Amino acid sequence: MKYITILVILLNFYVHAIKSSNILVFVPSPWKSHIIAFQPLFLELANRGHNVTVISKFTVKDPPPTYTQLVPSYNFDIDGRSDYLFRERSMYYSFIEDPMTRSTILVDTTLMFMSDPVIQKFIKYDQSSFDLVMIESFFQECAVALGHKYGAPVISIVPVTPWISVSRWANNPADLSYIKDFMLDGGKSLTFWERLANSFIGFYSLFVEPITYLPKLENMMNTYFQYPGYENRPTMAEMLKNISLSLIDSDITIFSSRPYVPSFIEVPGIHFRPKKKMDKFYTTCGILRI
Ligand SMILES: *[C@@H]1O[C@H](CO)[C@@H](O)[C@H](O)[C@H]1NC(C)=O
Ligand SMILES: *[C@@H]1O[C@H](CO)[C@@H](O)[C@H](O)[C@H]1NC(C)=O
Repeated sequence: MKYITILVILLNFYVHAIKSSNILVFVPSPWKSHIIAFQPLFLELANRGHNVTVISKFTVKDPPPTYTQLVPSYNFDIDGRSDYLFRERSMYYSFIEDPMTRSTILVDTTLMFMSDPVIQKFIKYDQSSFDLVMIESFFQECAVALGHKYGAPVISIVPVTPWISVSRWANNPADLSYIKDFMLDGGKSLTFWERLANSFIGFYSLFVEPITYLPKLENMMNTYFQYPGYENRPTMAEMLKNISLSLIDSDITIFSSRPYVPSFIEVPGIHFRPKKKMDKFYTTCGILRI
């Protein structure tokens, strides 16, 4: 009897220790490379017993039972958009087309997936409660409203090195003389022309974006993020400043070293799988497969 009492007391401690969370991962965008790099994190959270709901076009096969997937229905590449976005670019691109792309095609794309019927149904009618909301920081600032909807802290996943539009909300250092915009080539040192292009796009983000881009995203939030109680939410800027943590898929080996505020953490390579023993055939024959 005494042992049973001890066991029950011990169990009580453990029940607390394994209390799992309801986590929403809201990444309905068409950018596969952005999500793939973070999927192992979402899967691991589910493997450790958390209830993870992932909204994405890119599903995983045989997920753990606590991993729910919701797939938007839109078709991204109807007009050859990806060929346009991923073509080779000249320096001229940074000055003229890049700023235009950021406040036109990328905004239209966000509109495309936020207005998707599956996404709209979820935003309007989902009544789950989530303890944590993860969103993507890539031309979709309006998604931050979900933190308000569920009264939960927000983590942002940043799929590239953070540029001014992402850094500004957390006052993350973004010195234009050596901290590169994500659209510029990798490599460490900048030439004069690269520095000029970097400053140009930096000034665009600092001074033009608040007039051309951010109001579009705030409008999108007001139109497409309507759920019970949305009328009383803070402004988009206030909510973006309130993001608790940003996980960054970038690495010092690709871009130069740079300072970060404590809430910005680089997590490159979390998609790498643990190494396995080499096939016996190859080790005995001395063949190396590359
Ligand atoms: C887990 O998430 C799914 C999908 O959001 C939900 O239907 C289910 O009720 C959640 N389970 C728990 C135990 O909260
Ligand atoms: C900031 O986030 C916390 C949750 O982490 C929330 O309770 C608070 O209301 C949020 N404030 C604003 C202004 O969004």
